[in-house]
Amino acid sequence: MIQIQNVYKSFEDQPVLRGVTLDIKRGSSHIIIGRSGCGKSVLLKHIVGLMRPDSGDILIDGHSIVNMRRRDLYKTRIKIGMLFQGAALFDSMNVAENVSLGVREHRLFPANEIDDRVAAKLELVNLPGIEKKLPSELSGGMKKRVGLARALMMEPEYMLYDEPTTGLDPVTADAINDLINSVRDKLGVTSIVVTHDMASAYKVGDSISMLHEGNVIFSGTPESIRTHEDPIVQNFITGSKVVMH
Ligand SMILES: Nc1ncnc2c1ncn2[C@@H]1O[C@H](COP(=O)(O)OP(=O)(O)OP(=O)(O)O)[C@@H](O)[C@H]1O
Ligand SMILES: [Mg+2]
Repeated sequence: MIQIQNVYKSFEDQPVLRGVTLDIKRGSSHIIIGRSGCGKSVLLKHIVGLMRPDSGDILIDGHSIVNMRRRDLYKTRIKIGMLFQGAALFDSMNVAENVSLGVREHRLFPANEIDDRVAAKLELVNLPGIEKKLPSELSGGMKKRVGLARALMMEPEYMLYDEPTTGLDPVTADAINDLINSVRDKLGVTSIVVTHDMASAYKVGDSISMLHEGNVIFSGTPESIRTHEDPIVQNFITGSKVVMH
């Protein structure tokens, strides 16, 4: 389980997270929505330990990662896979090299198993046999799936997805949604999905939280968000213009 407790984070004098509290239950898919720039990616970076809060705490399976020793943080991080906004593949490496990068670096498996494991993960993301292709030869949707294969190589217990469907056509986006669901079902991975895409949120989410001005202004089921009366929430989920105050 992941617990985010009263997390504050500012950059220079710009407050971004202002007391964010969230519980992510094991085995669930938790969606985080919110307008561009509201701090969604910053929040994910806190969960993987790439950023530290100014105050507040982040617990992974009951252990605070905020003041964790390097070695323990490193062990905890291996449990968490992240699909970065934009997939973040290395252009000079082929698909197999990109997918196996983390496991080679961490020496998680014997070298002679790596090829088979890469093949299995590419199959899992429905891209079998593309090991030798370069990122420049792939579409945006394929790159995201290769990024997912790379994250899954570490056999994570948690997967964080930062806008996995942004920039994809609706059919490709829906294939990514199916993949997120199948990763959860087949591998039992707990997922956090940051998205602007409400179709994706409804299809993938067991629960949805909305971030606004540094706070969680809604947390609940996909059904309950549809009838939630807060105009900021309604404007966001129906795509109408946000009323500024
Ligand atoms: N490393 C950093 N240094 C300074 N400011 C940062 C840093 N990272 C993020 N910010 C600021 O924090 C705010 C939130 O950024 P963040 O990337 O989390 O937004 P977001 O909700 O993910 O937006 P989008 O939906 O467009 O991806 C922005 O104002 C951004 O400029
Ligand atoms: Mg972002």
